Amino acid sequence: MAQRLCLNGLLLASCTVMAQSGSNILSFVDPLIGTVNGGHVFPGATLPFAMAKAVADVNGEDQGGFASDGSNITGFSHMHDSGTGGSPSLGNFPLFPQAGCPDDIFDNCVFPKDSRAVPRVNGTAQASPGYFSIELATQIRAEMTSTNHTALYRFTFPSTPTENNATLSPLILADLSDLPNSRINGSINVTDTTGRITGSGTFSPSFGIGSYTLHFCADFQGADIRDTGVFMNNRAGSEPKNLSVVQDGVNNSPDILPAGAWTRFRAPKVNGTIMARVGVSFISSEQACNSAEAEIPEFDFDAVHQASRDAWTSHLGALSVTPGPGVNESLQTVFWSGIYRASISPQDYTNENPLWNSTAPYYDSFYCIWDSFRSIHSLITIVNPVSQIRMMRSLIDIYEHEGWLPDCRMSLCKGFTQGGSNADVLLTDTYLKIRSLTKDIDWQMAYAAVRNDAENEPKDWSVEGRGGLKSWKELHYIPTEDYDPYGVGPFTRSISRTVEYAYDDFCIAEMAHGLGYEADAQKYYQRSTYWRNMYKSDQVSTINSTTSTTNTTETFTGFLQPKFLNQTWGYQDPIFCSPLLNFTSCYLNPSGHETYEGSAWLYTFFVPQDQAALITTLGGPDEFIRRLNYFHESGLLYVGDEQGFLPVYQYHYAGRPGLSAARAHYYIPSQFNDTLVGIAGNDDSGAMGSFVALAMMGLFPNPGQNVYLITPPFFQEWSLTNQITGKVATVRNVNFDGTRNLFIQNATLDGVIYTKNWIGHEFYLEGGVLELVLGCEESGWGTREEDLPPSLSTGNKTMGMGLYSL
Ligand SMILES: *[C@@H]1O[C@H](CO)[C@@H](O)[C@H](O)[C@H]1NC(C)=O
Ligand SMILES: *[C@@H]1O[C@H](CO)[C@@H](O)[C@H](O)[C@H]1NC(C)=O
Ligand SMILES: *[C@@H]1O[C@H](CO)[C@@H](O)[C@H](O)[C@H]1NC(C)=O
Ligand SMILES: *[C@@H]1O[C@H](CO)[C@@H](O)[C@H](O)[C@H]1NC(C)=O
Ligand SMILES: *[C@@H]1O[C@H](CO)[C@@H](O)[C@H](O)[C@H]1NC(C)=O
Ligand SMILES: *[C@@H]1O[C@H](CO)[C@@H](O)[C@H](O)[C@H]1NC(C)=O
Ligand SMILES: *[C@@H]1O[C@H](CO)[C@@H](O)[C@H](O)[C@H]1NC(C)=O
Ligand SMILES: *[C@@H]1O[C@H](CO)[C@@H](O)[C@H](O)[C@H]1NC(C)=O
Ligand SMILES: *[C@@H]1O[C@H](CO)[C@@H](O)[C@H](O)[C@H]1NC(C)=O
Ligand SMILES: *[C@@H]1O[C@H](CO)[C@@H](O)[C@H](O)[C@H]1NC(C)=O
Ligand SMILES: *[C@@H]1O[C@H](CO)[C@@H](O)[C@H](O)[C@H]1NC(C)=O
Ligand SMILES: *[C@@H]1O[C@H](CO)[C@@H](O)[C@H](O)[C@H]1NC(C)=O
Repeated sequence: MAQRLCLNGLLLASCTVMAQSGSNILSFVDPLIGTVNGGHVFPGATLPFAMAKAVADVNGEDQGGFASDGSNITGFSHMHDSGTGGSPSLGNFPLFPQAGCPDDIFDNCVFPKDSRAVPRVNGTAQASPGYFSIELATQIRAEMTSTNHTALYRFTFPSTPTENNATLSPLILADLSDLPNSRINGSINVTDTTGRITGSGTFSPSFGIGSYTLHFCADFQGADIRDTGVFMNNRAGSEPKNLSVVQDGVNNSPDILPAGAWTRFRAPKVNGTIMARVGVSFISSEQACNSAEAEIPEFDFDAVHQASRDAWTSHLGALSVTPGPGVNESLQTVFWSGIYRASISPQDYTNENPLWNSTAPYYDSFYCIWDSFRSIHSLITIVNPVSQIRMMRSLIDIYEHEGWLPDCRMSLCKGFTQGGSNADVLLTDTYLKIRSLTKDIDWQMAYAAVRNDAENEPKDWSVEGRGGLKSWKELHYIPTEDYDPYGVGPFTRSISRTVEYAYDDFCIAEMAHGLGYEADAQKYYQRSTYWRNMYKSDQVSTINSTTSTTNTTETFTGFLQPKFLNQTWGYQDPIFCSPLLNFTSCYLNPSGHETYEGSAWLYTFFVPQDQAALITTLGGPDEFIRRLNYFHESGLLYVGDEQGFLPVYQYHYAGRPGLSAARAHYYIPSQFNDTLVGIAGNDDSGAMGSFVALAMMGLFPNPGQNVYLITPPFFQEWSLTNQITGKVATVRNVNFDGTRNLFIQNATLDGVIYTKNWIGHEFYLEGGVLELVLGCEESGWGTREEDLPPSLSTGNKTMGMGLYSL
């Protein structure tokens, strides 16, 4: 049977299929994937990494603005984050259109968000790169596109309004609110002659401290102005023409008083359409107006839409793919949509930062690095290194001006740290991979920034740096119930913070080594072994699994466990906070436990710097494989959270690269697919998207190291043109059949036999052809000791320094 399938593969491999490139890529992007069941994806119009992000906002699952959940539309707003958990983000100053007011009296229109929310017409949401549209039950069609700082809307009104006794005289209001209703204060003006509405508001960030102030500027075209005014609570007037609101003592957030301004129009002149152009700025409403006028002078919807498509084509077009036999459109949509979603944030707010002046770019919505270091930035580094370099310059600039690198940052505010100081991983990853491409990054400053994380404890380590540093340096682990009078933060997550700090220190060591700070490098390499100090070798985990035919009990021994200051062990069931037991008990709150968003089972695997030592610790390769298989198959692993990514590929380190390939196919497409629910968890700014894209490309990073683990691409072939060097890297499968031939039999790099099961970033910098000959059974390829990826304990401390040379 297997033999026949192999043969089948050989025959099919001779098919030729056109490579996908250019604008036809865009037809494989479906921004609506992940807009229900917790994906929280922003599906609206945006340019790659841009600030303006326009979409319809709903009163259902509103984290990304819109959701395909049948809930009602509350307005159309111009800035969003994508895929985040918890509270919704941004969504400030929504516009809301009404075709006419009952009895033609403007005060009879509906103003407050809660009462104006109107059903969508099911099935009318359309989304593609640079475009979003939807039809409301009021028969208004809303379309939107955008530039870097400006949203452009085209509202098409019915010739007869659905409102009682109304005549066609559209009213568009602008609301001084945001999605989480976090407004602290705000002011708004409307100009009677032009209908222009400008305003400002101060709001709270969605996952951080402090507040931010945002400004906007809305202009309209397509109909004469009839009258203008403001509204407060549920009443509107044509005087005054401006208002300002503060939080009153009673109507506090989240039930802020509805307030805003409106412009009413005569019947639209052409085709029932009125255009609305909304600029946004963190500097001033003047700057918002200036950006809008400069970026969209003519209100030309089709031209703006086309420019956006061109920008996406150029961004995504770094890659071209030859799908090959057995690869349906659905799988291609999963792939391209994944890259697309990983290209929404971080957002370029350069020239929009009111906090400090700098010549460096300013990016925001690093939301959060705890999520994004695991694959988003790895993907950006290969597809768009120019953006990655700008983002890292911005991180270093944030350190220079705020004193600390962020682990999470949104809306100009400090966000909450979930574990370690993972910007250390990001900066090191960029240092190892693409420092040769730029002179713009100040690596001495970068090193000062990451070293600061490792050495100095901030007063509030819930938003920057690390807690427990004295214990870390003296006891060599983060004690459960630590004594730490030096700063404040949640005294939970002692296990997960220990393993993350260890990995962060490893990355700092790599950078130190590269910069020639050998004493530091030795110190931090040493610290990176501290994960061992929370490993309890006799800790048993017994799991009863029940199927329809068997009841089995599996036992594994040796897990990370809580450890107190006095060096005695505590206890947390190794499966606690896995999907099998109290899954939701380990969040970022005072009652969270010793692991973060996962179990001790999960965190016991988190030793990215030294898998060789971990494998020995857990009983050798066979026992490690048994444990890793069980982890994936028992329900203990939730692949919808980012710590689930690397375990798909850890088989490589035990000499079984074929099992990594098989495991990737176990999750794709069953957990990552092109349906509306096609993301296993929160997309987290495109983390899930970047995982699926990198997994399908077959070069999966161990981020923070110059290492990509090789598995066969899910396509016959792909090529990537380096944005800076212009060199082309190609990975080609031979005997590809899209189904059974998942296992590499042998490989060549530029025609020379290649036996290692990993490759460095030089492949992307210098280009080349990696050819993988596939078969339907595991082979000896990539299984020898010398072919395994580097590990600290096997002596390769220069792993980051490149395949070919230092
Ligand atoms: C639209 O879809 C939602 C669920 O998504 C459903 O509750 C509602 O009844 C549908 N409306 C119509 C008019 O079909
Ligand atoms: C949506 O609007 C419809 C019609 O006004 C209303 O019946 C329904 O309760 C609303 N649903 C929500 C979630 O607001
Ligand atoms: C939008 O911003 C990006 C940088 O984030 C820049 O490369 C691009 O040129 C800008 N687009 C326009 C039309 O200015
Ligand atoms: C429409 O207006 C007329 C006259 O003002 C009024 O009598 C009637 O009740 C209104 N109809 C509705 C449905 O509101
Ligand atoms: C609104 O107008 C007032 C004067 O009428 C002006 O002082 C204020 O700066 C304006 N605010 C905005 C946000 O344009
Ligand atoms: C009005 O609609 C027609 C038909 O769809 C279209 O050809 C025309 O370009 C539209 N006019 C404007 C100004 O958009
Ligand atoms: C930045 O420079 C501008 C123009 O010189 C100045 O108005 C502004 O106050 C400066 N901002 C900060 C935060 O220093
Ligand atoms: C597993 O099954 C054994 C034997 O039935 C039982 O004693 C034990 O409590 C079970 N463990 C769990 C975690 O359910
Ligand atoms: C497995 O255990 C469950 C619950 O303990 C029991 O209901 C079931 O009958 C058992 N199944 C078999 C095949 O023994
Ligand atoms: C060590 O500390 C823990 C936590 O405070 C305590 O429960 C335990 O009794 C202590 N053990 C010893 C031997 O002091
Ligand atoms: C675990 O979940 C159960 C209910 O499923 C709850 O009663 C218990 O308090 C939880 N335990 C912890 C430690 O969170
Ligand atoms: C698509 O992915 C979702 C989320 O992981 C999963 O629940 C669903 O079963 C998958 N659908 C298909 C058809 O595989």
